[in-house]
Amino acid sequence: MKLIDGKALAANLRGEIAAGVARLKEERGVVPGLAVILVGENPASVSYVTAKEKACAAAGISSREIRLPETASERELLECIERQNDDPAIHGILVQLPLPKGFDEKKVIDAISPEKDVDGFTPVNVGRMMIGEPCFLPCTPHGIIKLIEFAGMDLRGRHAVVIGRSNIVGKPVAALLARRETNATVTLCHTGTPSIARFTREADVVIVAAGRPGTLTGDMLKPGAVVIDVGVNRVADATSARGYRLVGDADFASCAKVASAITPVPGGVGPMTITMLLWNTLESARNKSLICPIDARG
Ligand code: GUN
Repeated sequence: MKLIDGKALAANLRGEIAAGVARLKEERGVVPGLAVILVGENPASVSYVTAKEKACAAAGISSREIRLPETASERELLECIERQNDDPAIHGILVQLPLPKGFDEKKVIDAISPEKDVDGFTPVNVGRMMIGEPCFLPCTPHGIIKLIEFAGMDLRGRHAVVIGRSNIVGKPVAALLARRETNATVTLCHTGTPSIARFTREADVVIVAAGRPGTLTGDMLKPGAVVIDVGVNRVADATSARGYRLVGDADFASCAKVASAITPVPGGVGPMTITMLLWNTLESARNKSLICPIDARG
């Protein structure tokens, strides 16, 4: 059984991104800028946002941290997004999800300019992705495709089973796997699927993004299958200094006995999500500086 090392692949790609950032600065005087907006203090969100900001700094991308209290109004958040839309130094806007109760997530995402939507969450980018037009691909699904390539897996004619139908992971990764260039046959399972095991036992690759530990167990796998575990779940652990440890959605011990390769948690999909965010931010800055040279000078 092979561990698919997302940290190693992420480090390689981040090196390339840092080189691209340096070249853009040298050739066109542009420093990519990412606005990271966090509302409230959800501990998992705080740690994701901190990791994103650190990764930006390491790649030479300028990140602008904007923290709003949980008590902020939706109007304040929308105005904040509007200011980032209008700011030529900002090439990417990220609003960390989930938002606290009371915020209309759809309305907030809709407020992000599609040209700066480096998460690939706006309807314009989702639509472009579905019809194969140039767009920002959503970071976790894009990172998963890169990880599968890195693992040396050719999915042409293979059966990929996705568990979970979220807008952030399940639905878009299913769409990307089915694109002509990847050419997998895709089954999308979700909470309404009566027997998920019936499908996963036929799968060459299982992508599990259900948000629940133990969703995938070894007895649900075909021998030699590849497992991509998107879950990040905190489970109480008194032996850990933090009082918790991170586990994925797959039961690692039993899956590792049957699978040929598996992504660890942490160190699998997580580092790739952040890497593709940096990638999209660099792309956005490159495109903007081509389309609008006045902005590049300013
Ligand atoms: N919450 C969980 N994953 C993501 C992500 O990729 N982007 C944002 N903005 N929020 C998230």
